[in-house]
Amino acid sequence: MSGNLTILKLGGSVITDKNADEGVALKEEISRLAKEISSYKGQMIIVHGAGSFGHPLAHRYSLVDNFDAEGLVLTHRSVKILNSIVVDALNESGVKSVGVHSMDCFTTTDGRISSSFLDPIRIMIEKGIVPVLHGDVVMDSTKGVSIVSGDQVLPYLALAFGAGRIGLGSAEDGVLDENGNPIPLITNDNFDYIKACLGGSACTDVTGGMLGKVRELLDMCHGRSMTSYIFNAKVAGNVLNFLNGEEIGTAISDSLE
Ligand SMILES: Nc1ncnc2c1ncn2[C@@H]1O[C@H](COP(=O)(O)OP(=O)(O)O)[C@@H](O)[C@H]1O
Ligand SMILES: [Mg+2]
Repeated sequence: MSGNLTILKLGGSVITDKNADEGVALKEEISRLAKEISSYKGQMIIVHGAGSFGHPLAHRYSLVDNFDAEGLVLTHRSVKILNSIVVDALNESGVKSVGVHSMDCFTTTDGRISSSFLDPIRIMIEKGIVPVLHGDVVMDSTKGVSIVSGDQVLPYLALAFGAGRIGLGSAEDGVLDENGNPIPLITNDNFDYIKACLGGSACTDVTGGMLGKVRELLDMCHGRSMTSYIFNAKVAGNVLNFLNGEEIGTAISDSLE
């Protein structure tokens, strides 16, 4: 697939109330985002986080470390509900989109995606359908079950399909420095110095918060000419600006050149 493909992640912190201990969708925000996305006509994959539909359950059943059948079933059911809400809003705004569950197309080994079945996604993109994936529980060849975050799915798909534009919309104006200002560029060269400012999530997030995102994106671009952006999707207009090619938030790339 060509570099014309855009991959956008909508963070769980943007589309759900992440302080809730059960799934609460922010339906007005989701509709607003769907309208912005509908103004963009290029090839696109959307990935969304699980927010309060996933993290509290994954935490309750310790799914990062343990197999638990009931936890697996309940978490998968819950994140699929959020996925339907997002897909419905996109279709209502005119974005022809279909939910694709990470459970159905990935397996992991020790928590990392080790095999995938992406043919349906490839054909959807060719046909102008927007696949909408999400953070999910997936079957793991060593642990039985693991949690795959949207932050892991996004770089995997970006590499698999050679995406030209990659963005993570979250709840901050980018990756913030010690004074709360967005850091313009993080690379594999300056990450050791910047790491001190980075933490997990202020809310329940079993997949590493901001530090997890930056690590995933730096691994993705290592040795490659790829730039991705972490930006604030809660600010109206930002998602569309990203889709239209604007530099926004914090850029992540391999080196300072
Ligand atoms: N340096 C930092 N800059 C921005 N956010 C940070 C930083 N360090 C920790 N965080 C936390 O990481 C959160 C984003 O991660 P997360 O909650 O997992 O978002 P999402 O739901 O979009 O995946 C921020 O809202 C903030 O609480
Ligand atoms: Mg997260």
